[in-house]
Amino acid sequence: MKAMIYRHHGEPSNVLALHDSREIPAPGSGEVLVKVRRRMVHPIDDLMIRGIIPLPIPESGLVPGGDGVGTIEAVGPGVKLSSGIAVGARVGLFDAHGTWSERVIVPAADLIPIPDDVSDEAACQVMINGITAATLLREAAASRGAAGEGAPLLVTAAGSSVGRNLIALAKMRGLKIIATVRSKPSADVLSATFPGITVIDTSDSDWKERARAVYGAAPSVAIDPIGGAMIADLLDVLADRGTLLTYGGMDHSPSTVSSIALTVRGLTIKGINTPVAVADLSADQRVDDLNDIFDMVRANASSLADYRMVPLTDAVKALSAAQETPRRGAVLLTSEA
Ligand SMILES: NC(=O)c1ccc[n+]([C@@H]2O[C@H](COP(=O)([O-])OP(=O)(O)OC[C@H]3O[C@@H](n4cnc5c(N)ncnc54)[C@H](OP(=O)(O)O)[C@@H]3O)[C@@H](O)[C@H]2O)c1
Repeated sequence: MKAMIYRHHGEPSNVLALHDSREIPAPGSGEVLVKVRRRMVHPIDDLMIRGIIPLPIPESGLVPGGDGVGTIEAVGPGVKLSSGIAVGARVGLFDAHGTWSERVIVPAADLIPIPDDVSDEAACQVMINGITAATLLREAAASRGAAGEGAPLLVTAAGSSVGRNLIALAKMRGLKIIATVRSKPSADVLSATFPGITVIDTSDSDWKERARAVYGAAPSVAIDPIGGAMIADLLDVLADRGTLLTYGGMDHSPSTVSSIALTVRGLTIKGINTPVAVADLSADQRVDDLNDIFDMVRANASSLADYRMVPLTDAVKALSAAQETPRRGAVLLTSEA
């Protein structure tokens, strides 16, 4: 069984290595063994391997990977064989650990049955990132009222995988969206994927004025994974009583926030961590979100079609490919054994 593993933090090409073992693990109580075929490369994988987001590394090493799609190979004692959870079923994994391996043991609660008409490649792109988009839109809906129901939502790093899922779900719900990207080439790629949406390039000096004016009302909610200097810019762009939902830190530099602007204009900043937010949902809400996400996949095939596949054993190459700009789509790690 092949897996990519690291025992020290550092440059991925120095610390990430192939580990091959004859042993196939057996699932314990409440667990399931899944043969994983596809998993997405996420920015957090690179940050964790480098130790920028440090996780303690056990002596046996750490296998990256928080999501994936594959087939159930074995079911441990005590697992309820219902809702598509049976040997041979095709499933997605959220929020799993160690999926950069040909097989992984996960709690049965991490399994998401995949509809027959949704491909492994599409399903893989909406596990963490589709669920994150649905979570962010739920938070946005709860926050929008304060600054005006009809006002647009602003989505930054809109060419990212989460950004594309956000745009596709928001379009399906008839929401007004302003999509921002950091360069003209990225704007061109995103406009080609979503014809007709409003794309603004933040390297243009007047981007903030345009974002406030384009729909005749400033955005009520901004959804941002960049952080750094972008935070102060987004607070400038928001309508009074608006909300900034922050869900990442791709710019690692510290953010400056004016407490005076927050106070006088009644602005809110809220951090969103998807696994934490999903843990608070009812079972019905989770099912509704997944149904919406799979409907979005069916309605927006083009936004998920531009992926690249790299063999699991070439994970270092995949990490570099995932950093290329402009963003054209996901990088998927594949294994067939
Ligand atoms: N809070 C949560 O639970 C949660 C869950 C999932 C993801 N996230 C976070 O969401 C973010 C996006 O993840 P993803 O998988 O969607 O990423 P992704 O598909 O790899 O896309 C990242 C893209 O964002 C753009 N970008 C990168 N750095 C930027 C910067 N400093 N300023 C502006 N744009 C920048 C680039 O697009 P261009 O090359 O086109 O400019 C880059 O390709 C990450 O920070 C991730 O950690 C958080």
